[in-house]
Amino acid sequence: MCVGLPTETVYGLAGDGLNPSAVARIFEIKKRPAFDPLILHVASIAGLSRVAASVPEQARLLIGHYWPGPLTVVLPRTAEVPDLVTSGLDTVAVRCPAHPVARRLLELFGGPLAAPSANPFGRLSPTTAGAVEEELGAALALVLDGGPCAMGIESTIIDCSEGEPVLLRHGAISLEDIEAVVGGVRISTDGEKIKAPGLLSHHYAPRTPLWLWEGSLGESPQLDNRTGLLAWNRAPRHPGPVRVLTPGSDPREAAANLFTHLRELDAAGVSRIVAETVPTGGLGRAIADRLQKASSGVIRSRNGILQEIPR
Ligand code: TXA
Ligand code: MG
Repeated sequence: MCVGLPTETVYGLAGDGLNPSAVARIFEIKKRPAFDPLILHVASIAGLSRVAASVPEQARLLIGHYWPGPLTVVLPRTAEVPDLVTSGLDTVAVRCPAHPVARRLLELFGGPLAAPSANPFGRLSPTTAGAVEEELGAALALVLDGGPCAMGIESTIIDCSEGEPVLLRHGAISLEDIEAVVGGVRISTDGEKIKAPGLLSHHYAPRTPLWLWEGSLGESPQLDNRTGLLAWNRAPRHPGPVRVLTPGSDPREAAANLFTHLRELDAAGVSRIVAETVPTGGLGRAIADRLQKASSGVIRSRNGILQEIPR
């Protein structure tokens, strides 16, 4: 049985993480390729010993600081973790969510829950129970409604399996906040990310093609009403639908709004979404990363002519 589960980052599609047929059902519902491993969610640090063969010092420090919370650590796995969870890797990704509903379910269940974001593979992550219901409701036993996700962007993933911590995915805890605990962290290169193919490809995407605007939309170009705009902190004059990520120029507010605003623009019947460049300090980096992966490329105006440059 699989359920929609609220967490503080995004909603998850949760099932028994140690039961191969439940895990297989998650892959099936999500239409996720079997080479893309899942995160196991645990109720507490105590739950780690069943799934992680060892916990290096740096991982201990990070966990001590940020659990429960939006931090996923990649650690050497135990034999009890089904191969399907890790896609055959000898490491496992683990996180301890802070959301009270997720915590309660984990405590009642008494074991780890595998939970990818509750969206069809490659699509926008859901940040409300309604969005889960809409996309995957028919396949789920139930969707637990824990309200809108406070953070709205996925957990930060740090690989600690080889001693020196490596950042695999920018997320709800900024690089600066990770480095405040363990010092300099290496950021994995795309080549290394082949280890976790889900981190690589076209991802987090709306159905409508999304293009990144070079610079600010302030002196808005000749975009027509068939274009939806995702602006950073103020709405430019524009004949089509506009969403502003953060009127207060606060990256946390922007992260919380990101997937909801993209979902709304996607539903607005436009033929193209154009996103303004976001400042990349703190959580801005995770937002920019999501937009980049969701995008078809860059759009710009040259001598009054719009040019789309596919990536
Ligand atoms: O905030 C989150 O992390 C949410 C909520 C539901 O907890 N979950 C989430 O899961 O974002 P998902 O499946 O959408 O993304 C998990 C990412 C994938 O890109 C996968 O490739 C990577 O984690 N991953 C999982 N196991 C890994 C491993 N052993 N080594 C490296 N990357 C791994
Ligand atoms: Mg996902």
